[in-house]
Amino acid sequence: MTGIEDREDDGDLLPPYWRLANQDLPKGLFATLARARMASAAVIDIVRHSAPRQALTVFLSQLLIGVTVAAALLFMNRIFEPLFSGADVMAKLRAVAPAIMALGAIFALRIGFSFVLAINKASLAPKARLAAEEQLYRATLDIPLSDFDDPNFYDQLQRARDRGILHLEGSIAALIEAFAALFAVAGAMVALFILHPALLLLMFLPVVPSGLGAIRAARVQYDGMAKTVSLMRMSTIYGEMATKRETAAELRAHQAQPFILNKFRHAAGQLRDHYIAIALREATITGVASLFSGVGWALAVALLLAMIVNSWIDLALASAAIVAFRVAAGALEQLVTNAHTLVQKSLYISDYQGFMDAARRRAETQPTRPVPRSPQRIGVHGLSFHYPGSEGRWALEAIDFTVEAGETIALVGENGSGKTTLAKLLAGLYRPQKGMVAWDGHDLADMAPGEIADRVSVVMQNPVRWPDSARANIEIGRYREGVENEEKLLRAAEQSGALSIIEQLPRGWATLLSREFHAGHDLSGGQWQKFAIARGLYRDCPIVIWDEPTAPLDAKAEKATYEALRRLGRGRTAFLITHRLMSIRSVDRILFLQDGRLAEQGSHDELMERDGAYAALFRLQSELYNSNLL
Ligand SMILES: Nc1ncnc2c1ncn2[C@@H]1O[C@H](COP(=O)(O)OP(=O)(O)O)[C@@H](O)[C@H]1O
Ligand SMILES: [Mg+2]
Repeated sequence: MTGIEDREDDGDLLPPYWRLANQDLPKGLFATLARARMASAAVIDIVRHSAPRQALTVFLSQLLIGVTVAAALLFMNRIFEPLFSGADVMAKLRAVAPAIMALGAIFALRIGFSFVLAINKASLAPKARLAAEEQLYRATLDIPLSDFDDPNFYDQLQRARDRGILHLEGSIAALIEAFAALFAVAGAMVALFILHPALLLLMFLPVVPSGLGAIRAARVQYDGMAKTVSLMRMSTIYGEMATKRETAAELRAHQAQPFILNKFRHAAGQLRDHYIAIALREATITGVASLFSGVGWALAVALLLAMIVNSWIDLALASAAIVAFRVAAGALEQLVTNAHTLVQKSLYISDYQGFMDAARRRAETQPTRPVPRSPQRIGVHGLSFHYPGSEGRWALEAIDFTVEAGETIALVGENGSGKTTLAKLLAGLYRPQKGMVAWDGHDLADMAPGEIADRVSVVMQNPVRWPDSARANIEIGRYREGVENEEKLLRAAEQSGALSIIEQLPRGWATLLSREFHAGHDLSGGQWQKFAIARGLYRDCPIVIWDEPTAPLDAKAEKATYEALRRLGRGRTAFLITHRLMSIRSVDRILFLQDGRLAEQGSHDELMERDGAYAALFRLQSELYNSNLL
């Protein structure tokens, strides 16, 4: 929602996250050209790898089209020459026939090249886009969890994803158009040079003003871009609020319709005015440029006439030159416009590239120590951890304990005491800033995250509701391509209580659990939780970590869950986070966290005997259950 909060009262907009964090558009012509070159190199790099054959074909067919431009102009002179001569009509026609045939052949060739170009162009952008997208997701999926809590990194990722990918297709299109224009300009220039070198100089008279005009007009678009993007984003946000399913219920309950509509109208109104202002400035600039270009044309024609009068060139050559000027002027405008588009989009492309480079560097520095198949001892030594961006505020501080394989441990403490954070560190999802989690004496920091994860089954505190089938919602617990394990799946579903839900679903295991799709089906919070537990059960691992698995469950489901956990816990090392102290009296050990510190640890009886914070909390809960508060 950055876009909303960033709006200041005078209507000015601060650059929001998805815009350029630390770079800006180049100002001068040469800086702009350098940026265009850089963006082209980046786009070409992506295209060359994702669709090499198409990229080469597009390039070659454009080059050939450029050659046909030059050839057509040259043959045009051959046609004009006999036409403007003094011979009779039949003789003229006989003389121009070969040149006309040649011109026809050139146009036929150009149609052929254009067709080849169009076909290859059609598949180039989608191929490149999907390849770039897959690369991005592949890189993102390998990134450590802690990076997602780092706002800078997360912004970079979002920019690469939202904007980089989005603008890639546009950049490819602009690059192709720019190349086409470049070859057309070059073709016209070569033809003029062959016809008469002096004509090449005359060409600049009408062409330069329209080229400069195009540069200025593009510049206006460009300078207004920051505002355009911000305003567009704002009006889109309100549009989404008005139409999304997630907001639909609360919006109606709070009668927030006028609020949304007003906000939208405000943003959309600014956007409209901004568009109109840009269009007017562009029209003015183009008008002035056309005026100068007209003067240029007049001058060029006058000079052509002077050349004819002095017999430097003939009428035919002058006519061919005028056609060439027109071709060059049109192509130059196209070149300028597309070069600017490319420069605009280069910022987004470099967002994408920057992210991919960072991801690649990270992948190269992955630790490689072998991970024990089934760790016999988990040691937590002097462990301190803070979240990225929360320097100085320790979520966990100086934690020390050791767990032997097969023990069942309960982590308890108030909200915010650090239980979930500790669970994630035990699972190797985060790296501590001080101290370590060690398996059989070796620091997890030296082991590959993927292999650590392979030994751990986690039921998260807020499990994901995967928008996929009921089956996929359990299978994702240990996804293996091609391998299916029906018996295990069924057992996990049964023990978690998910099976009875699945049996009630309209399409059973195949029912889509998401209302975002047609024929999708939504579940209640407690029902979703049973699927999360089923995933945890299905994912067979030596270490089990369950974070408040029973919080959204009714009493019956809670009892079943503890039974399943007890069965699962046999022979495994289990960590259970819960607030139901009554249910965990028989665990091997209770770790009591307070403000990120390990305040007490021991069995229930030991802690009650000690009569500390745990005992006080336990007595409070017992009172709560036996009293009548409302
Ligand atoms: N992603 C996060 N980024 C920053 N701080 C966080 C994040 N998650 C949790 N915290 C903070 O860390 C502390 C411990 O949180 P947590 O481990 O979730 O507590 P618990 O699970 O015991 O309720 C809290 O102060 C919380 O605000
Ligand atoms: Mg928690």
